[in-house]
Amino acid sequence: MKTPYSAIADTLDHASGVVVVTGAGVSAESAIPTFRDTMTGLWAKFDPQTLATPEAFAADPETVTRWYDHRRLGCLAAEPNAGHTALAEIERRVTARGGSFTLLTQNVDGLHRRAGSVHVVELHGSVARWRCTATGREFEPGPDAFKTFPPPSPFEEGAVLRPCVVWFGEALPDVALDAAERALETCDLFLSIGTSSVVWPAAGFMHAASARGAPTVEINPEPTGISDDVTWSVRAKSGEALPAIVHLMACH
Ligand code: OAD
Repeated sequence: MKTPYSAIADTLDHASGVVVVTGAGVSAESAIPTFRDTMTGLWAKFDPQTLATPEAFAADPETVTRWYDHRRLGCLAAEPNAGHTALAEIERRVTARGGSFTLLTQNVDGLHRRAGSVHVVELHGSVARWRCTATGREFEPGPDAFKTFPPPSPFEEGAVLRPCVVWFGEALPDVALDAAERALETCDLFLSIGTSSVVWPAAGFMHAASARGAPTVEINPEPTGISDDVTWSVRAKSGEALPAIVHLMACH
């Protein structure tokens, strides 16, 4: 069956409000493990409830911060892949002709920005940024691993650092939710890329866009709970599909 790349490229060329949500699948081709894929998924090796919750951090701050520092260094060492680069190019072309483009990412790896994406909303925060548990002050640690775990806070004697990521049971940053809501209000083309669409609120964005009458796209090598509801369901890796779509877009 011919993939709908040309239809998607043509819609991208005419859309005025493009909204994209991405998940761990977009970074899989940068060798950053996803969360739920069997075999490679991070959670195949770790139990999420022992690591990605405030309770886990309170019970065992050493293990939790050691794991997140391991992920932080892995993300710093990773390189954006062709999918990240293509998304940055799509943003350039859409905004060059006066359209708006918002990239809502569930990823905490920072690769979209490193690939050149500008209008990025980090729904689940960033593993590159850590904050003091006493003062809330944030900063980006250097490229080396922390020396002790949990890492001591540089801002308050006796306090420790935690990663600025959203844990299960924690609210998403208001500024991120507001940005997502605003973007969806004027959305006339929605793309879900590399996410299993099981974690809310990101899992609900496609339906919000569709309810406005926007055509919707999913790019994922595997089917998900939204695959039957999207306008175009593309069974492919993002690193393959996105460059192919860019290639068919009008040049600006
Ligand atoms: P998941 O691991 O749940 O899903 C990754 C998706 O990417 C799967 O549907 C894969 O089929 C797909 N995939 C794998 N390789 C791909 C590729 N090369 N190109 C495109 N897609 C590919 O990760 P997320 O959906 O991001 O939240 O998980 C959402 C949230 O669940 C995460 O942000 C995290 C977790 O709880 C928090 O930690 C708060």
